[in-house]
Amino acid sequence: MLWERVAHVLAPHVAVDLGTVNTLIYVRNQGIVLAEPTAIAVDRTDGSVVAVGRDALSMLGREPREIVVHRPVRSGVVADYELTEKLLRCLLERALGYRLRPWVFPRLVMGTPSVSTSIERRALLEAARRAGGFHTILIEDGIAAALGAGALAHNGQASLIVDIGGGTTDISLVTASGLIAAYSLNVAGIAMDRAIGDYVLKRYGMMVSEQMAEAIKITIGAALPRTPARHMVVAGKNAHTGAPCEITLTSDEVFSILNGLVETILQGVRFMLERMSPETAADLCATGITLTGGGSLLTDLDVRFQQEFGIPVFRAEHPLESVALGLGSLLEEPLWLEHFRSEEEEVEWMTEMEPFPGAALAQWGGR
Ligand SMILES: Nc1ncnc2c1ncn2[C@@H]1O[C@H](COP(=O)(O)OP(=O)(O)OP(=O)(O)O)[C@@H](O)[C@H]1O
Ligand SMILES: [Mg+2]
Repeated sequence: MLWERVAHVLAPHVAVDLGTVNTLIYVRNQGIVLAEPTAIAVDRTDGSVVAVGRDALSMLGREPREIVVHRPVRSGVVADYELTEKLLRCLLERALGYRLRPWVFPRLVMGTPSVSTSIERRALLEAARRAGGFHTILIEDGIAAALGAGALAHNGQASLIVDIGGGTTDISLVTASGLIAAYSLNVAGIAMDRAIGDYVLKRYGMMVSEQMAEAIKITIGAALPRTPARHMVVAGKNAHTGAPCEITLTSDEVFSILNGLVETILQGVRFMLERMSPETAADLCATGITLTGGGSLLTDLDVRFQQEFGIPVFRAEHPLESVALGLGSLLEEPLWLEHFRSEEEEVEWMTEMEPFPGAALAQWGGR
């Protein structure tokens, strides 16, 4: 018992879902112990860390002159090495409740976008190592999301997972043997927030914060017109005079803004379906499509999917936690961890010409 506790402190087993918007940490035998925004505030003068996570994000737009708030992960991949390392170290220490000294050897399991290059995977491994990770295993997000959402069929059938996060929508076709194919779009929660901010600026000449745009999406946004229509009073800044001001937005306006992006996500799924073998297509009649990621919480998105594809559509029970729960379940099952571990070598994938408007990045990957 005492030895187990010492081993846990010296070699903790930790799973990390380092997302564009949120980072979740799962500790073996404890479950998810931390969920924080992927944000870090640093002092411009000496680069020291002022705050991380929620504390850092709450400074955004209100930060004192010498402090700058960063989001070091873009589209699910490390965009700023050093900051990712600092953020990860702080969050790991917070999750474990103690400092990562040289005699602590954390074993990490981390999610990586299913469609990511070997360079991006190496960047993540390097950031993890510098943050204090002793040994890191990468698992493709599509597999982790399927495990965490309980969508992995154990009879060998394929299932389709659509993970709508902050930076990317990842569409993965998976079986218990591994990932069959993956497709990634740069259209997800952040793109929706930006579209709302751009509309309000163009139509009403008012600037709104990122947080306000997100609140509009969550409060009155939907993937189908809402009946009865809903209204929301939105505060911001007049773009011409600089004065504080308010407008009232309707759910119909927000539906029209988001509709093009929802359509892009649906086209991404269609793109995947068109390229499937008849065997996997047949499997989906039973296993259906599982929606996960924070973006899947958009009101009526599951209904829209159902109307569009006519096969069963499930929403994960905890969409914001699926990847972390899936990675965590592998910590508890070392044999499965070995089975699903992602090889470091490049996953073969080809980049399509933009197959439809609005898809800033569209990649198709398979093995
Ligand atoms: N109720 C809701 N309705 C619509 N969107 C929501 C809701 N709740 C959260 N979101 C959105 O979910 C997104 C965050 O989801 P998630 O935590 O899965 O992303 P992430 O894993 O950090 O990003 P990525 O997987 O792209 O790297 C944000 O854009 C947030 O606005
Ligand atoms: Mg994610």
